[in-house]
Amino acid sequence: MRILQVCAEIYPLLKTGGLADVAGALPPALLSLGAEPRVLLPGFASIMAGLQDPAEVARLSPPGAMANAGARLLYGHLPACGIDAYVIDAPGYYLREGGPYADANQHAYVDNHLRFALLGWTAAQLAIGLDPLWRAEVVHAHDWHAALAPAYLAAAAQSQQRHLAGSVYTVHNLAYQGQFDARHFGELGLPAHFFAMHGIEFHGQINFMKAGLYYANRITTVSPTYAREIQGSEQGCGLDGLLRDRANDLSGILNGVDESVWNPAADPALAANYSADKLAGKRRCKAALQQELGLAAAPTAPIFCVVSRLTEQKGLHLVLRALPELVERGAQFALLGSGDAGMEEAFRSAAAENPQAIAVRIGYDEAFAHRLIGGSDVIMVPSRFEPCGLTQLYGLKYGTLPLVRGVGGLTDTVNDSQLETLDVDATGFMFDAFSSEALLQAAARALALYRRPADWKAVQQRAMRQPCGWDAAARAYLGLYAQLIH
Ligand code: ADP
Ligand code: GLC
Repeated sequence: MRILQVCAEIYPLLKTGGLADVAGALPPALLSLGAEPRVLLPGFASIMAGLQDPAEVARLSPPGAMANAGARLLYGHLPACGIDAYVIDAPGYYLREGGPYADANQHAYVDNHLRFALLGWTAAQLAIGLDPLWRAEVVHAHDWHAALAPAYLAAAAQSQQRHLAGSVYTVHNLAYQGQFDARHFGELGLPAHFFAMHGIEFHGQINFMKAGLYYANRITTVSPTYAREIQGSEQGCGLDGLLRDRANDLSGILNGVDESVWNPAADPALAANYSADKLAGKRRCKAALQQELGLAAAPTAPIFCVVSRLTEQKGLHLVLRALPELVERGAQFALLGSGDAGMEEAFRSAAAENPQAIAVRIGYDEAFAHRLIGGSDVIMVPSRFEPCGLTQLYGLKYGTLPLVRGVGGLTDTVNDSQLETLDVDATGFMFDAFSSEALLQAAARALALYRRPADWKAVQQRAMRQPCGWDAAARAYLGLYAQLIH
């Protein structure tokens, strides 16, 4: 089965969030199940640098305003990801100071519609015969950056009047849609009639996300609960009507954990390794973390941590408000994150007021994320909405019990600890109302359980022993692809 995975980022070469973790883990999981996946990526500097033995597949002649991008398609191996990849070499589009989507001042690049239309267009070409040696049978596009792939495929299939390849579109976050002014539509080289309500148009604008949702043969998102939530007006971001229309083609497939990256028994970032059977190393990780962060060396103070982008989605102002009481009840708190400047400042000053109990590190640091999760007792994910969420899965795997709000993928991955569930399926703590009071009530239950070490350990071991790898998800995707290949 020849599957082209199309995405804008991939761990460990380029990552702004969980999308990269998924892009880095799903293709190798498909490979190990006998499929023939390849990845298509934009030629950002770190991706070009990670491409081994690149060979030119073709000079690209995209339509519309992309014609002068001077783009080439390369093919090679990404040793860091364990996968073969096509990379679009278009220096004018992808080699820039700043991030993949925005400049150093967080201003989105003004030609993002072209930079990512080129990604979608090239994906479609790989299903049409651009590479004579490998033609994709299914194109699987991830998030808005890749969302024009199904549209270009549909346009080609319409003009050639035949089926070319199946398409799957995965929504990782419906809140980021890729919307652009209608005047750019002509630059994309799509048929004029695609700019319509039944197509790519959304309230008078171009909407990449909507194109993916409209033209793909199948739509998936990253948890069953989020798949239901986005069909309602509250979480549908204006696209719930279309998602309800397509309900029969929409499913939720839960993300997994890349166990070659996140495994406490073999994690080189940790001060000591540990497992469900041998938990002693976790205490060493905790002591090392307290020392590294300058927190009081208190083995019996539970550490609550957060590893997150600091954005509205993540609900972290609930944590800010709850912090004084949490600390008063004997907990310590440590955060790793970056994003919203006001929130960065608020966490920084909370730490400055009480450095013995609160530590805050602003920035992005992969190795420290491992040490923080390894050394903490609880990981908090109080999201307003959460398509899947990965850090709570890392928490489960590391015996760092997740304390989460009951939304989206958090609901599907964590089981609340109540008296009656303690011996059954409890793996963490959950609250529903989006308030710091509700969060504190769940935290109080976490603190109470923590004071009963035998019960805590039992929940911890259950959490750590839960299967959470990529195998199940990869099998589910394969089943979906098979429906599209006849
Ligand atoms: P989202 O994709 O919405 O940000 P996820 O939970 O799916 O949320 O994925 C976030 C990923 O980014 C996880 O791998 C997490 O460990 C990582 N991450 C987030 N913030 C940081 C940070 N400041 N430093 C290191 N890793 C981070
Ligand atoms: C998005 C979502 C997150 C999900 C990730 C990977 O960034 O916000 O919930 O885990 O994609 O699918």
